[in-house]
Amino acid sequence: MSDGIRAFVFDAYGTLLDVNAAVKRNAVSVGEKADAFAAMWRSRQLEYCWTRTLMNRYEDFWTVTEEALDYTLRTFKLDHDKNLKARLLSAYFVLDAHPDAREALTRLKDSRVKISVLSNGTNPMIRAALEAGGLLEFMDAALSVDDLKVYKPDPRVYQYACDTLDVKPEEVVFVSSNTWDLAGASSFGFKAARINRMQAPPEYEFATLYSEHRSLIELARLVG
Ligand code: LAC
Repeated sequence: MSDGIRAFVFDAYGTLLDVNAAVKRNAVSVGEKADAFAAMWRSRQLEYCWTRTLMNRYEDFWTVTEEALDYTLRTFKLDHDKNLKARLLSAYFVLDAHPDAREALTRLKDSRVKISVLSNGTNPMIRAALEAGGLLEFMDAALSVDDLKVYKPDPRVYQYACDTLDVKPEEVVFVSSNTWDLAGASSFGFKAARINRMQAPPEYEFATLYSEHRSLIELARLVG
């Protein structure tokens, strides 16, 4: 493998898994503001991870996902519908995989690099969604921050991947659609590869990217 790359480590939500799938599946019940609803749920979910980490009050990703959903349902005045909350949460547990994920992972696997997920999600959440999307079989490891009780982008999380896969930071391509995660990975010493499906502008420019791709298939070309 060129450039000394021995492993590809993937973020899960937004990168391999479609983070908006739970709202899309319930779009009729959520109503015309479904896109804004999905965006608020996601942004509060991430905010609660970071604030809880700073406050030293860790709760797992399933808990912060529910806390963020409660706030979003209240904001959009949908909190009277207990059935909707249950449907959104159960859909979140098995989000759809992005359509290009299986083919990209097949190509990477053929090149004999190690492949892993490193996610803020809990172990049951990651395994269920990867299995449902047919992605679990490609993984040498599916790693959750819940084993450490601290969220990305804390450097200890990225170190956990190196320790588990027995690789050095510079031997890892870390793949994410989340710019905050790429900044953390790059600062740690990983080769940070951005999946930029929507052609969003650059962000966290102090942290250097290794590469940028429109899709996971395009990413797989890194291995030829
Ligand atoms: C992940 C989310 C937070 O770590 O993107 O998978």
